[in-house]
Amino acid sequence: MKRLSHIGTAAVVCLCTMPIVVQGLNNGVAKFPALGYNTWNAYQCNIDQDLLITTAQLMKSLGLQAAGYEYVNIDDCWAMKNRSATGELVADTTRFSRGMKNLTSQIHDLGFKAGIYGDSGWFTCAGYPGSFDHEEQDAQTLFEDWGFDYLKYDNCAIPFDDIIRQGIVGKHQRMSSALQNLEETVKPIVFSLCQWGWSQVWLWGATLGHSWRTTGDIGPNWPSLASIINFNSFITQATGYYGRNDLDMLQLGNGGLTFEEAKSHFTAWALMKSPLLIGTNLSAITPDIVEILTNREILAINQDSVEPSSISPFRWGINPDWTSNDSFPAQYWSGPSQNGTVFMLLNTLDEPADMFFNLTESPWIRAGREYSVRDLWSHTDNGTAIRNLTVSAMPPHGVVALLLKDAGNEPDGIYPQCAVWSQCTAENGTLVGGN
Ligand SMILES: *[C@@H]1O[C@H](CO)[C@@H](O)[C@H](O)[C@H]1NC(C)=O
Ligand SMILES: *[C@@H]1O[C@H](CO)[C@@H](O)[C@H](O)[C@H]1NC(C)=O
Ligand SMILES: *[C@@H]1O[C@H](CO)[C@@H](O)[C@H](O)[C@H]1NC(C)=O
Ligand SMILES: *[C@@H]1O[C@H](CO)[C@@H](O)[C@H](O)[C@H]1NC(C)=O
Ligand SMILES: *[C@@H]1O[C@H](CO)[C@@H](O)[C@H](O)[C@H]1NC(C)=O
Ligand SMILES: *[C@@H]1O[C@H](CO)[C@@H](O)[C@H](O)[C@H]1NC(C)=O
Ligand SMILES: *[C@@H]1O[C@H](CO)[C@@H](O)[C@H](O)[C@H]1NC(C)=O
Ligand SMILES: *[C@@H]1O[C@H](CO)[C@@H](O)[C@H](O)[C@H]1NC(C)=O
Ligand SMILES: *[C@@H]1O[C@H](CO)[C@@H](O)[C@H](O)[C@H]1NC(C)=O
Repeated sequence: MKRLSHIGTAAVVCLCTMPIVVQGLNNGVAKFPALGYNTWNAYQCNIDQDLLITTAQLMKSLGLQAAGYEYVNIDDCWAMKNRSATGELVADTTRFSRGMKNLTSQIHDLGFKAGIYGDSGWFTCAGYPGSFDHEEQDAQTLFEDWGFDYLKYDNCAIPFDDIIRQGIVGKHQRMSSALQNLEETVKPIVFSLCQWGWSQVWLWGATLGHSWRTTGDIGPNWPSLASIINFNSFITQATGYYGRNDLDMLQLGNGGLTFEEAKSHFTAWALMKSPLLIGTNLSAITPDIVEILTNREILAINQDSVEPSSISPFRWGINPDWTSNDSFPAQYWSGPSQNGTVFMLLNTLDEPADMFFNLTESPWIRAGREYSVRDLWSHTDNGTAIRNLTVSAMPPHGVVALLLKDAGNEPDGIYPQCAVWSQCTAENGTLVGGN
């Protein structure tokens, strides 16, 4: 019965006429994007228990925990290459010599939740045991015995068709079902699907997990960020509470990005409601990167408690609307939020640029109203916008994030009469407000 409470009215109506719809993992965890840490980008396979504890301690002392970062996640290479005689996963006996239960207890004692990595095939991407045909057993080991809270589930070494006899969805359903079996007896687990590649995971991922990778691995460079932003600009509607496009881990502070690019990276990921998993060596992190990662006004929108939508482009910019261009993605974005309409302007050019838009180009803006402007990076109130807004001299690959709040009717006598002039008509039938 517990799961029924999460289905909502629409599905309850369906119960009268249809079989019970599988509700995937809409199970009370991961309503909002996960905020946390992942070991892969900074360390790859060079991980051990002490690194994880040091990282968790640094997340506290750097103020990341206080800003909302909650998960400390281990990526690939934590296991022994062979399972035990009874088929169980075994943690690396040298690098995790105190055992995983000890590690998750310590992470929990520090006030965090703990995440682990697995794979839907024979082997993980680095060649450690995958969970294919061990789903129930591994779910029990990882979450019941060892106490982990979150699973990133990768996509390497998939069995032949005549063994698995499943499509992509069926392949992931196996672990999703194993996790659902633990939901009542152990706890609900956050399930992060890593089905990269052209599999349209945004169409079906929400029935099985809480987030789904939409692209290949991110790199610490602007071309990688631009191509991920471009790809995801076309599928923003797939993101909502309990399920979202995952733009991959954060590469801030890993070299390869300018300060402006790091701000753009964080802004785009946060406002597109991606999970935000830090992938930086925290022992070497600089205060300016910590300041980006702890921008509370941006984080509040990522974690918006009343409005789950991603921002979406309202104009592409230098290329025609709806153009796919890996190097020059959409530049003008907006979306609804708890406190107003949020805008992201992205200067995708390699040189400074002025950016201009009419407010009503965004569907969330009302014609005939004026808006107060809050700059979410300078943390200042920047006056009032009427009809349009210009940002001058944006740096190359720079970003501006603004929150526009309705501030009442615009003054009388603004010309043209109609901000959206098409078909704008007086009661006597005269077209008005054209320009
Ligand atoms: C792991 O298992 C394989 C196959 O059973 C075996 O050949 C190999 O010796 C084992 N390796 C270790 C380190 O036990
Ligand atoms: C973890 O193991 C260490 C060393 O054996 C021990 O001192 C510590 O109490 C253990 N911590 C937890 C939370 O189990
Ligand atoms: C992380 O940063 C510390 C401090 O600068 C450094 O000693 C260590 O080698 C770095 N680790 C990696 C994997 O880069
Ligand atoms: C909206 O404003 C309130 C009050 O300042 C703040 O607590 C909340 O985090 C804001 N929500 C978003 C999504 O920015
Ligand atoms: C991407 O946009 C740039 C700038 O408009 C253009 O020069 C380039 O040809 C475009 N690339 C593709 C693949 O359309
Ligand atoms: C902005 O509005 C003005 C005045 O209505 C109009 O001339 C202009 O074409 C609009 N620009 C865009 C990009 O919509
Ligand atoms: C808003 O005002 C602040 C303080 O003057 C300034 O630093 C910032 O660039 C302004 N933002 C925009 C988008 O113009
Ligand atoms: C921007 O709006 C103002 C009214 O606030 C108007 O006077 C001005 O012409 C508009 N600029 C453009 C470029 O449309
Ligand atoms: C129609 O109404 C508009 C706006 O009130 C007014 O400016 C215009 O003169 C009217 N036209 C006629 C033919 O009455």
